[in-house]
Amino acid sequence: MDDSPKPSAPSTDLERLGAGTGMDLSTMPPGLAQRLATIGADFRQLSLEYEFALREVETKMHILQDEFLHLHDYNPIEHVSTRLKTLDSLVAKANRRELPMDLDIWRREILDIAGTRVTCSFRRDVYRVFDLFTERQDVEVISVKDYIAQPKANGYSSLHATVRVPVYLSTGVILIPVEIQFRTIAMDFWASLDHKIKYKYDGEVPADVADELQEAAQAADDLDRRMENLHDRVHGSGPTLFV
Ligand code: GTP
Ligand code: MG
Repeated sequence: MDDSPKPSAPSTDLERLGAGTGMDLSTMPPGLAQRLATIGADFRQLSLEYEFALREVETKMHILQDEFLHLHDYNPIEHVSTRLKTLDSLVAKANRRELPMDLDIWRREILDIAGTRVTCSFRRDVYRVFDLFTERQDVEVISVKDYIAQPKANGYSSLHATVRVPVYLSTGVILIPVEIQFRTIAMDFWASLDHKIKYKYDGEVPADVADELQEAAQAADDLDRRMENLHDRVHGSGPTLFV
């Protein structure tokens, strides 16, 4: 009987964490590998807290959506999605930003560990939903980037807000940052294709493809405006904010 150890099966904490993150910790300096192994354990606690924050944001969005529908007979939100950064993408981001391997520092410095995307029907709805959400007493706005008023050079367009929301644990209340991207369906359509193209070319997009993408962004913007005008012709410009 062959009882020699199977080299492919992870046996130590470091190997297990390495397998989970796609990183080979055995080739790292022992101090760094040990640090990452410790982070792996603490990351589970962090993930849970950030997951709760995502649920809070998602619930608040759905309440806002239902209330808007009830009061105005109009639904400004098409869909809401959430994502939590994985440990390996967090480590990769910390490396890019030259941050030390320290979860407490990452909590302070990396504000998009938890992300929510809110896709709205029209441009006007993006700002309506943003205003209603950020006016809430339990939402603290940290920063706003308006790539709709000022699209990126490649054509990317969306309204980004980084907020902090309270999460109620048995041990007390903690405030967790969440990055929220508000956009229209046309902006979302463009961004998902842009993402796939960037992924395919590993960031080095050929100039002709980049040019055509930029034109496509313009076409998406035109479509947004036409559809909003059409909607207004048929239904009027609709409700303004709650009074
Ligand atoms: P990150 O390190 O990517 O978080 O950059 P940042 O902190 O400078 O924030 P930025 O506002 O540039 O982008 C944050 C997020 O917006 C990204 O993670 C993407 O989800 C989205 N985003 C920004 N620019 C683009 C873009 O050109 N194309 C696509 N598809 N998404 C983008
Ligand atoms: Mg970011």
